[in-house]
Amino acid sequence: MEGLTDKVIIITGASEGIGRALALALAPLGCKLVLSARNESRLLSLAHEIANQGADPLVFAADVTSQTQCKELVETAIEHFGRLDILVNNAGMTMWSKFDELNELDILDRIMQVNYFGPTYLTHAALPELKKNQGQVVIVASVAGLTGVPTRSGYAASKHAVIGFFDSLRIELADDNVAVTTICPDFVLSEIHKRALGANGQPLGATPMQESKLLTAEECAKMMVPVISSRGRLLITSLRGRLGRLLKLFAPRLIDKIARRAIASGH
Ligand SMILES: NC(=O)c1ccc[n+]([C@@H]2O[C@H](COP(=O)([O-])OP(=O)(O)OC[C@H]3O[C@@H](n4cnc5c(N)ncnc54)[C@H](OP(=O)(O)O)[C@@H]3O)[C@@H](O)[C@H]2O)c1
Repeated sequence: MEGLTDKVIIITGASEGIGRALALALAPLGCKLVLSARNESRLLSLAHEIANQGADPLVFAADVTSQTQCKELVETAIEHFGRLDILVNNAGMTMWSKFDELNELDILDRIMQVNYFGPTYLTHAALPELKKNQGQVVIVASVAGLTGVPTRSGYAASKHAVIGFFDSLRIELADDNVAVTTICPDFVLSEIHKRALGANGQPLGATPMQESKLLTAEECAKMMVPVISSRGRLLITSLRGRLGRLLKLFAPRLIDKIARRAIASGH
């Protein structure tokens, strides 16, 4: 992982779950971290934990749905550390409702704003600096960006959108030697399931998942680090996710069944 030493890395969604675990995994490698999310006090407590390991991260609270705040985040990171090498677009949110049971259709807009528009705003702000440094954009998408998932239609749509966007950007940036790394986690134990918006537009508050059977955020982060370090193209964290890509082509009804079963069983 020597490739990551001294790299200046922005991580969005660093206050919880996968983003937080990734920050804790990167800090000991000598990375200069910029921790972002909306909840500043949780970011400060993470920064404190990281500082105890000898690193000195920057905290910048920002909402990725605001173009202005995305620009300020990038500017502040560059001002503070003098450069930017890697942008990890990780902030995200989800839903948990069948489409025809939704009472609040703006759930779909909210999810698209955070999961799709947010990464595009932030990446646009960061690109001049990333091009200068032959840097890297990491997008934390989902296996829901590779296949349909019942009760997650709006989430799956946002993740398909973001994968399509960053697959296109990868080609645009090839001559600039800016890498684009797509991470597709399967279910991970984090806050996202409790925070998922239900049919009425409110967070569920309790997880519908079988938590003991999920990959932990720390395990997910551990899988991500070598892929980021080697500027890899794609990480799919589960075997069913990897097989699912082939099944979608050759046995699409089977992958639909697997997705239905995964949601019904909660793991
Ligand atoms: N957990 C899974 O099963 C799973 C599976 C596949 C993909 N993923 C993806 O992994 C990424 C991380 O999710 P997670 O599971 O770690 O979820 P999480 O524990 O709920 O963390 C989500 C993070 O995103 C931040 N966030 C949410 N809305 C934001 C906004 N508008 N602006 C800035 N930050 C915002 C949250 O912080 P604040 O509330 O402080 O802003 C939090 O730090 C997401 O993109 C998710 O879609 C997760």
